[in-house]
Amino acid sequence: MTAPDDLLVKAPAAAIARTHCTASQYDALYQQSIDAPDAFWADQATRIDWITPPTKISNWSYDPVDIKWYEDGLLNICHNAVDRHVAAGKGESTALIFEPDSPDGEVRSLSYAELLTEVIRMAGTLKKMGVTKGDRVTIYMPMIIEGAVAMLACARIGAIHSVIFGGFSPDAIAGRIEDCSSDFVICADGGLRGGKHIPLKANVDAALNKTPVRSVLVIRHSGADVTMTDGRDHWYHEVSQDVVSECPCEPMNAEDPLFILYTSGSTGKPKGVLHTTGGYAVWTAATFHYAFDYREGEIFWCTADIGWVTGHSYVIYGPLQNGASVLMFEGVPNYPGHDRFWQVVDKHKVNIFYTAPTAIRALMREGDDYVTRHDLSSLRLLGSVGEPINPEAWRWYHDTVGKGALPIIDTWWQTETGGVMITTLPGAHDMKPGSAGRPFFGIQPQLVDNDGAVLTGATSGNLCITHSWPGQARTLYGDHDRFVQTYFATYKGKYFTGDGCRRDEDGYYWITGRVDDVINVSGHRMGTAEVESALVLHDKVAEAAVVGFPHDIKGQGIYCYVTLNAGIEPSEALEAELRAQVRREIGPIATPDHIHFAPALPKTRSGKIMRRILRKIAENDFGSLGDTSTLADPSLVDGLIEGRKAR
Ligand code: WTA
Repeated sequence: MTAPDDLLVKAPAAAIARTHCTASQYDALYQQSIDAPDAFWADQATRIDWITPPTKISNWSYDPVDIKWYEDGLLNICHNAVDRHVAAGKGESTALIFEPDSPDGEVRSLSYAELLTEVIRMAGTLKKMGVTKGDRVTIYMPMIIEGAVAMLACARIGAIHSVIFGGFSPDAIAGRIEDCSSDFVICADGGLRGGKHIPLKANVDAALNKTPVRSVLVIRHSGADVTMTDGRDHWYHEVSQDVVSECPCEPMNAEDPLFILYTSGSTGKPKGVLHTTGGYAVWTAATFHYAFDYREGEIFWCTADIGWVTGHSYVIYGPLQNGASVLMFEGVPNYPGHDRFWQVVDKHKVNIFYTAPTAIRALMREGDDYVTRHDLSSLRLLGSVGEPINPEAWRWYHDTVGKGALPIIDTWWQTETGGVMITTLPGAHDMKPGSAGRPFFGIQPQLVDNDGAVLTGATSGNLCITHSWPGQARTLYGDHDRFVQTYFATYKGKYFTGDGCRRDEDGYYWITGRVDDVINVSGHRMGTAEVESALVLHDKVAEAAVVGFPHDIKGQGIYCYVTLNAGIEPSEALEAELRAQVRREIGPIATPDHIHFAPALPKTRSGKIMRRILRKIAENDFGSLGDTSTLADPSLVDGLIEGRKAR
């Protein structure tokens, strides 16, 4: 089904006039990228500096799974993000601007030359602590300049960074440190979000009680009191005093690992998605250039935390490789007021603004006045990422924030894809509210039915990608088999995204959400299995089943069905204990919205929980439960429906 014309939003004239890539250029480049991918990606590789330019471009197979790009090239991504701009005479231009949690706090700004000095200092300090090429370094930081510096410093010396979002609990940190046997941690004393102090160092201490590491480097930021363990913990401002002022970039093979980033899957513990250096560098550089249509001197603001892939690719590596000026914001959209985002846009004259639908919906609800009281005339482009954006939120973003005059890019991608995969390009494409748009260069989406049959034309199905691209994840750290099983086994010979999708007659893609047991809560990916494991750890819980349900602000909320051990009665106190249990195991982002105590869960006769039914009930959709006759005890369903209605 094509969107009716009134749902088509024309590319604004100003965007067409200035674009790096017109509609016809997109068509031609896209065709080239499909017809002769290696030639296309050899060309794109010249966006960055190589120590030894690659002669082999791609070498990949999805069966068996073995993915390599630029495999004989040598480079360093930190050089590309920092040094080369200084060498090119851009040392004075702004690299990073830090806006603190509180509007009264101190703004900090670093030129590329200053950033280079800071990165060298941190890299030298890491070396002094004994970090060498290939070591895994865990980073647990607020959104401060040192977070960016820590990532770049690791990349500079060839250490593999594993950044953990500051909202994760000590248990979650311990699990991730253990999974990649990381011996080093970089953290801050604490962070500030919405006026609240986040005890980052204390969380690290609690994690390290379970999993010891060799050294912890602590950055002074919030000024919180922290405990320092002798021999293990070091204040950065002390140990960085006497480091040398030179620390050359380590020459890295294109396929040397750059980072591990843990993300939730439909089963088991979080997966350590591994990205390598060369392909990721080219992919983030190219996608940033085209999708954001960046021009020198513009201020770019991506609100994502560096603990997520969006922060890796579009706070750090994409923009900095393009020599952009990047705003890093420590705070939240609604503190101290609902106009905080717009106040920051005005204050720093932000040109490109990239955020998540959940933030847009939350701010939309507060009314237009918070937006209109600020001068947003610096804005030129708006972006959205992380979950499907509902057309109503899209319209508000377009009409109220963008005054009806700015292009919006709705960028679909994943931790595993490294960077943007589907988006309209500003100035090249008309937009359809709710549709991500068209494939980026080199991306060949394919929709398949549940049996793997390829669906053509305007249709809906499971979204796969048939041809590798440079930014693709190479493996899951230490578990290649799980990588193969998760992404390449469902539909042999294709990368399966886990998302459902519709393609319309104009070739626009509309992501409909996950088709696996992953839910998307405020743009954060959450495995329902992870929440279930946290719940059943409680000694009064017999069994738990967790599903998503539509939530006005968060996109999806977390709905937990819990059965208790014999003789245990449900209570509000127990409900509170279970919430606390999940927060402790995973973190506040996983806090359940509903805990529904049920005497039993609906199962097939072979004992499999019927999640489809639980999902429908959580969605308040009782009319289409489908066939319940295969249930061991069909009468359970009525009780569950009554329980849902009572909420
Ligand atoms: C969802 C975030 C619709 C999708 C970059 C995907 C989206 C998952 C969009 C990846 C979008 C991301 N429209 N859905 N523009 N962007 N998603 O790994 O379900 O945190 O599979 O990467 O978010 O989440 P992740």
